[in-house]
This record gives sequence, structure tokens and C-alpha cells, in this order.
Amino acid sequence: MDTLEDLAQRVRGCTDCPLHTSRTNAVPGEGPADAEILFIGEGPGFHEDRQGRPFVGPAGNFLEELLQSIGMTRDQVYIANMVKCRPPDNRDPAPNEIAACGKFLDRQIELIDPLLIITLGRFSMSRFLPGQSISRARGRLRSVGGRQVFPIMHPAAGLRRQEMRASIEEDFAKVPGLLDVLRMQAEPATPGSIREEPAHYATETPPPSLWDMLPTAPDAAGANTPPVEHPVEPQHPTPDEPSSDEPSSDEPSSDEPPAGQQRLF
Ligand code: URA
Repeated sequence: MDTLEDLAQRVRGCTDCPLHTSRTNAVPGEGPADAEILFIGEGPGFHEDRQGRPFVGPAGNFLEELLQSIGMTRDQVYIANMVKCRPPDNRDPAPNEIAACGKFLDRQIELIDPLLIITLGRFSMSRFLPGQSISRARGRLRSVGGRQVFPIMHPAAGLRRQEMRASIEEDFAKVPGLLDVLRMQAEPATPGSIREEPAHYATETPPPSLWDMLPTAPDAAGANTPPVEHPVEPQHPTPDEPSSDEPSSDEPSSDEPPAGQQRLF
């Protein structure tokens, strides 16, 4: 079986899309193979291209601050991107580039098999929740193709706008509680064992914020809405969301899901 290092070597030698012609270094991703959390960003920027490492510029500093705020460090998580080579001038990655790189991300997900995938920004969110708006989807846990996906806005957007910074911080604060719940769900039940519930999960009425994040949140009528599985297809974000010259712009946009799409919560 291949390893994450084998995969990284393949990424470094990849010529499957035009981005390889302008890269200084490919950025395969980094972190422990058994990480509980996999972060998926958009694509390398200037600093990442120079160093061959993900999130090492200003957005990376903010990501590290966010991790610190929940008592974690970057060496505990795996950090990857939708595309592994820098789009010139930090333009948005093109659909053909995302599609060409998809095989590497797919394999990273399989090999790491994380408890929780945190998508950073609209491009990585769109891979799991195509057609949805980041301002609507952020901060809510979804079950997608058997994976637990928690979309948040891109840290770079938080560096540009204070209100986005606040929403990123708010979403990040939910991560420890989510991990508690997911760890408990992943624990194999042994006959006769008494399982200790995480404190904030065991309360009779869960706090609304945590309840909101669970894969099966109650709907307005009090009935549980079953998790909806979306196809895991590489997708380009909805064209109505604005783009910018930096990875990544998560400006608020129209919140209505496209016709025919179900809103979960
Ligand atoms: N932005 C991203 O999306 N990825 C990086 O690695 C750095 C900045």
C-alpha cells in the first residue's frame, strides 16, 4: 500500500495540469498520518510555493492562532489543499486544475481517514457541498459520503474583514465539542461497558450551539432530519460568489440554495 510520503513524491513530480509550469515547489500537505482533523484549504500562496509547505504565510499564522485557541498545535493536524501547486498571482484554481489534483486529495482522505474534515473556504467546501453558499453552510457539521465535514470560512478572509474573523473564531470554538462527540461515536461499544459521555453532550438538553452541529439536528417541528449524503465530486464553487486575487475570498453571498437543493438545517 502507498503511504502519504509516496503520495507526496507523486505530487512533487506531477505534470497533470498547467500549474506545474509556474510552481517553485509543489505543496503536498503535512501532518501526522493518524491525525484526527484534516484541514483542506484552497491552494498554496506565495510563501507556501517558496517553502513547499501549506499555510506558512499570514493565513497560516492565523490558522495556528486558531488552533492554539482550542489547545491544539499544527503538528497535531493534517493540513492539505484542493490544489497542490500555486495558481499564478493567487488567482482562483480553475476547474480543470481542481479536477486534476482531486486524485491526490482523495487518497489523502483515504489514508488519513480523519475523524473530522474541516474545509477552509468555499473551494474546499464545494468539494463536499456543491452549490451551497459558505455563509449559509459554515459552522454546521455535515455527514457527506461517510465523512464528517465542518465547513468554515477561509482564514485569509478573516484577515481582511473583522466580521469574518469573528465568525471563524466562533466556528473554531465548536471544534473541541465536535471532536468529543465524534470520538464517542467512533468508540466501539463493548458489551457491558459503561461509556462516559462528554460533559456537554450528556446534559439533558444539549446547548443549542452543540445541538446545531450534530449530524441529525432537530428540525423546527422537533423531528430529527436524517443526514443527507451528497456525492463527493470535485466541484467548482458557485459562480455567483465573488473571487479575489488572494486565496481565498469568502465574501458573504446570496444564501439561497440553488433550486432542487435541500437545506439541512
Ligand atoms: N491558503 C490556502 O488555501 N492554502 C495554503 O496553503 C495557504 C493559503
